Amino acid sequence: ANPSLLILPGDGIGPEVMAQVERVIDWFAANRDLAFDVSTDLAGGCAYDAHGTPLTDATMAKAQEVDAVLLGAVGGPQYDDLDFSLKPERALLRLRKEMDLFANLRPAQCFDALADFSSLKRELVAGLDMMIVRELTSGVYFGEPRGVTHEGNERVGVNTHRYTESEIARVARAAFELARKRSNRVCSMEKRNVMEAGILWRDVVQEIHDAEYPDVELSHMLADAGGMQIVRAPKQFDVILTDNLFGDMLSDVAAMLTGSLGMLPSASLGLPMANGRPKALYEPVHGSAPDIAGQDKANPIACILSFAMALRYSFDEGANADLLENAVQKVLADGVRTGDLMGPEGGTPVGTVGMGDAILA
Ligand code: NAI
Ligand code: MG
Repeated sequence: ANPSLLILPGDGIGPEVMAQVERVIDWFAANRDLAFDVSTDLAGGCAYDAHGTPLTDATMAKAQEVDAVLLGAVGGPQYDDLDFSLKPERALLRLRKEMDLFANLRPAQCFDALADFSSLKRELVAGLDMMIVRELTSGVYFGEPRGVTHEGNERVGVNTHRYTESEIARVARAAFELARKRSNRVCSMEKRNVMEAGILWRDVVQEIHDAEYPDVELSHMLADAGGMQIVRAPKQFDVILTDNLFGDMLSDVAAMLTGSLGMLPSASLGLPMANGRPKALYEPVHGSAPDIAGQDKANPIACILSFAMALRYSFDEGANADLLENAVQKVLADGVRTGDLMGPEGGTPVGTVGMGDAILA
């Protein structure tokens, strides 16, 4: 049987950028003998419009069964006044929670042709290809106790930075597995000098490494020093493994090394399923961009690169992922530009479909 994909185009520009991914999927079936069983469903505001809920139980069940889920984007101003439990974003939260997607992969990859869009000097970022693996389901954003309480005459805000050994171990394994498909290096970042969970984090990562992944090169860095290094010399990194809080900040910092929001893919992975593939959701980092929706202006590259990640990390199709990424690189080098990529040096302006045409060609 072919591997299965569930496509959730979502709202706003989601369906527009996903339509270009669907063309890419058709291309692989026709030209590379790589076919998927694709089903498509509603998630987000469009699901609320049709069913009164941002994600139906039937769609959730389908997401649990397939080999990978591809999501476009959800949300829009017409849903701003909905009750929190009905908001489009709840579709994403439910998928992440019920699929237990604990490893968030945020690549920072800089295509040569876009190096001048970076916040850093061209020579620091040209050819950059690093990956931040952020723990997504635990840590200080979820730890108990939490809340605003009273102590004597004043209020106290409390969050608890808590990690169990098994939570650290499973995200560490995800990072080591990834590293083996890349340049085989992991740098783990925490703050063991001031945080108990940081001490445990470092110990567990080292233990998993020594017992199961001795072939991967492992280093450790304090997360604040790591932030400096990401901006000073980002090309030293391959995979960075870090917790929820530090990963939130470091992945946003790293994103600015690469240029437009329209270029950034992501993946969220869970535990391996019976067939050995991890539970997986692939999506662009950007949202539904209501300001440009329906105008053939959206850059489909973030969504297309998210599919390239699916090829690499869910389906072991590294060569086909390279092929797709190289096509994107070539198109950018040729000066083909959606509006968000149009710099002072100009280029050939295209819309969403035109960018898809160029990549397919
Ligand atoms: P956004 O990412 O949708 O847009 C921010 C800016 O970047 C806009 O000016 C937009 O036109 C531009 N942009 C985004 N993607 C682009 C692309 N592919 N090509 C060219 N330009 C692009 O973030 P915003 O405006 O804060 O949120 C809009 C809606 O999206 C809200 O309802 C928000 O809740 C939702 N959202 C959904 C996310 C998701 O589905 N994962 C993530 C972030 C926001
Ligand atoms: Mg953030």
